[in-house]
Order: sequence, then structure tokens, then C-alpha cells
Amino acid sequence: MKSLEKRRKDYYYRRAKSEGYRSRASFKLLEIQERYHVIRRGDVVVDLGAAPGGWLQVIRHLEASAIAVDRQRIAPLQGVTPIRGDLTSPEIVNKILGIVDAVDVVTSDAAPNLSGAWSLDHARSIDLAAYALEITKCVLKPGGNFVVKVFQGDLFETFTREVSAYFRFVKAFNPRASRKQSAETYIVAKRYTPLENHLTKLSR
Ligand SMILES: C[S@@+](CC[C@H](N)C(=O)[O-])C[C@H]1O[C@@H](n2cnc3c(N)ncnc32)[C@H](O)[C@@H]1O
Repeated sequence: MKSLEKRRKDYYYRRAKSEGYRSRASFKLLEIQERYHVIRRGDVVVDLGAAPGGWLQVIRHLEASAIAVDRQRIAPLQGVTPIRGDLTSPEIVNKILGIVDAVDVVTSDAAPNLSGAWSLDHARSIDLAAYALEITKCVLKPGGNFVVKVFQGDLFETFTREVSAYFRFVKAFNPRASRKQSAETYIVAKRYTPLENHLTKLSR
């Protein structure tokens, strides 16, 4: 008899196949979108850790366009400009800003290669999420939205507080499509307020 977890995986795998999605991850972004409406028609989205492109397909179905960053190659998709590279490298921001002046949404489903050592994987995931936040601060329009994956662990609260310093709305969300035993959580942050706007308010 199959475990519940195996059946859940099979269910999303079959759904991804039958609905033409490149990965089961698509359903996580669909759930996030259904609950929080982070992406609007006509938006420009930077998707970090985008390969193989399941989230990109969702973004396109929402009639938004995307800039997709990954170390891996992403098969072409209309309305998607790929940047092949490491999101932790300093050139990534310039590459994005060479394509657009600013974007409406940043999403990151980037995940480290798992070592199996819980605290190491957690720390690496927080590290990637922190890079995603730094990129976001350089490319996101004021009022824009940010979604980032993190593995739960003792650095989670501090990172969430850091995100909260820049966004008016911040929530942690666990999609049903995430594996049960995986500790992945998505931080959904809306209405970006760059730090200089805080400072302007304070000096008034
Ligand atoms: C879970 S997959 C993303 C799945 C994707 N959201 C989808 O729907 O198809 C995580 C991705 O993060 C990428 N990644 C991890 N570390 C990265 C880094 N430092 N720079 C760029 N991409 C990275 C991996 O190559 C992998 O493609």
C-alpha cells in the first residue's frame, strides 16, 4: 500500500503532466497566487531559481512576463528572458537592470543541493533567500511584491523580521503541494517600501 506522501507526490506529478506543467512546483505558486494575488496581468516578474520553468509557466498564464535566473539552462518560453548564472554573483543585478529599469514582483523558489544535514541545508537556504532579498531591494518597484522559499529552522524568524522591515504585509505560507516532511515555507511579502521611503517619512 502506498504511503500518503507517495500518493500526494503521484497526484501532483500526474496533474503537472496532464496540465502541461514542467514541474510539480507550479502548484505551489498557483496556491500562493490564489491566496495572496501577488502577480497581476502585465506585471514583469523576476523569477530566481527558475529551472525547469514550472513557475514561469504559471507567470505566463497570468499574462505577466518574466526574467528567469538559474544556474541551469531553461528551455525557451515565450515572454521569458533567461539569465543563466548564479544568483549569488554580483553581476546578476546588473544583468536584470540591463533588461528592465524595475520589476513588479520578485519570486524565488531557489533551493540548495540537499546535503541531508538539516542545519546546513537550512543555513544554505536562508543564505539564498538573503541574496534574493538583496536582489529584490535593487530591482523591485516601490509597492511591489516578493515571494521567497526558505527551509524552516532557527534562522527563520530573524530572516522574516528582515523581510518585514521592507514590506507592509508579510506572511509565511505552506502550500498543500509541498511535501509533508519538507520544512519548506514560502514568505509572501507585499507592498515593498524601500528604506529611503522610511527615512523620508521619519524626517517629515
Ligand atoms: C526547486 S527548483 C525550482 C523549480 C522552479 N520553481 C519550477 O517551478 O520549475 C530550485 C532551483 O534553484 C536553482 N538554484 C539553486 N541555487 C542557485 C543559485 N545559487 N543560483 C541560481 N540558481 C540556483 C537550482 O538550479 C534549481 O533549478
